[in-house]
Amino acid sequence: MSTPRNQLSLHMTTKRTVHTPLTLLEFDKTHVWHPYTSMTSPLPTYLVDSAEGVYINLANGESLIDGMSSWWSVLHGYNHPKLNAALINQSTKMSHVMFGGLTHRSAIELCEKLVQLTPKGLSNVFLSDSGSVSVEVAIKMALQYWHSKEKESKTKLLTIRNGYHGDTFAAMSVCDPITGMHQIFDKVLMKNIFAPKTND
Ligand SMILES: Cc1ncc(COP(=O)(O)O)c(C=O)c1O
Repeated sequence: MSTPRNQLSLHMTTKRTVHTPLTLLEFDKTHVWHPYTSMTSPLPTYLVDSAEGVYINLANGESLIDGMSSWWSVLHGYNHPKLNAALINQSTKMSHVMFGGLTHRSAIELCEKLVQLTPKGLSNVFLSDSGSVSVEVAIKMALQYWHSKEKESKTKLLTIRNGYHGDTFAAMSVCDPITGMHQIFDKVLMKNIFAPKTND
């Protein structure tokens, strides 16, 4: 049986906690598992209010320069007016539709630009949603290539040492086994071939 709308909103209002930066950080420390950290001995986190250009503005009034170009990557700076406008414009039409069997103008125009930008011969586009997933997709394409050539036994990947390619399973399997930050998954990862890094 569904909950009447007015009861639901009352329930949501009464449950709401008013947080201060300190209580937010306390909850974060106790319940939020950040990438590459441990829940049992968490690393300190810094509460971010906003970001602009290269600056990350903290709730305590301090600003940091994002020298890492973010973890992961921020090419154009935070809070870019053109990117914000594009995001708002798109979200008023649809934030997302599945791409299996459907397509739309924004995706087609993006793919058209990518085909124009990339060297001759790179004329087909497969869209994915993160760096790690793009590595998964590339690996699947390579395997599917050999499958379509009826050489399914060709499943080993060759990569160079010292690489980092992401934190999904196939991507972890091509990261450096020692410095790639995924040692604890070693036993379940695909066994690939590592060539020496170029300056060895
Ligand atoms: C070279 C490289 N490949 C892949 C990735 C993974 O990207 P994502 O974090 O978007 O999954 C990273 C992330 O830092 C990267 O540096």
